[in-house]
Amino acid sequence: MTPPAHSAREALVQYFRTDQLLGLKEVPVRLPQPRTSAPASCKKAVSAAAAAERAELLRVLDDDQVKKCTKCGLSESRGHTVFGQGSSAARLVFVGEAPGFEEDRQGVAFVGKAGQLLTRMIAAMGLSREEVFICNVLKCRPPNNRDPAADEIAKCSPYLYEQLAIIEPEVIVALGAPAAKTLLQTTQGIGRLRGRFHDFYLSGIEGIGPAIPLMPTYHPAYLLRSPGEKNKAWADLQAVMKRLGLPLPK
Ligand code: URA
Repeated sequence: MTPPAHSAREALVQYFRTDQLLGLKEVPVRLPQPRTSAPASCKKAVSAAAAAERAELLRVLDDDQVKKCTKCGLSESRGHTVFGQGSSAARLVFVGEAPGFEEDRQGVAFVGKAGQLLTRMIAAMGLSREEVFICNVLKCRPPNNRDPAADEIAKCSPYLYEQLAIIEPEVIVALGAPAAKTLLQTTQGIGRLRGRFHDFYLSGIEGIGPAIPLMPTYHPAYLLRSPGEKNKAWADLQAVMKRLGLPLPK
């Protein structure tokens, strides 16, 4: 009899092969591999070859698909696409909303004012940007930083799902409501979602395939406007550190 894990794996293969669902026919698919024991750093104990393979898959996704994407109108107004940056072997992935002015100018995620706060938050966790992976739901900037439209999220989020399938992080932090709502497929607000782990399914279907623990927290741009909420975000990040076995500050 086929063991349940195998069925889930098969379901995931089927899912990723169904290009109508993800719209990513050409992207090579890697399936989650069994984990080795978790290291104390924030990079997975994967071989150099496996990390290079993941980096190459990310590069192909970026160069062949994201940079050339014209699936929605944002492609007409963008300066650069913003794929995301960091380690292909990251145990922790941060997902934001969409590039802003500075990110669109540089083609790099979270480098404006909110990004500088995120960099400090990551440093407070004892980590560097290079050890984690930082990306967004949308790869192009909405004009005047307006909220992402539902159809833009629907067309762009398959790239994010593919990034997460390649990296296979142990924990995801969703920064702000659009990221949390997209990944958890919920309409609940960030105030209700934050503060506890949720199951994120790579398949996009609850209960199908492997789940990754996801911590929703406040977006750094919100924290810049509401610094009184920083202690809640820090509590969320400490829960993430605990989950990853990282040393907590005394
Ligand atoms: N806000 C985001 O959500 N993402 C960025 O990359 C920058 C600001």
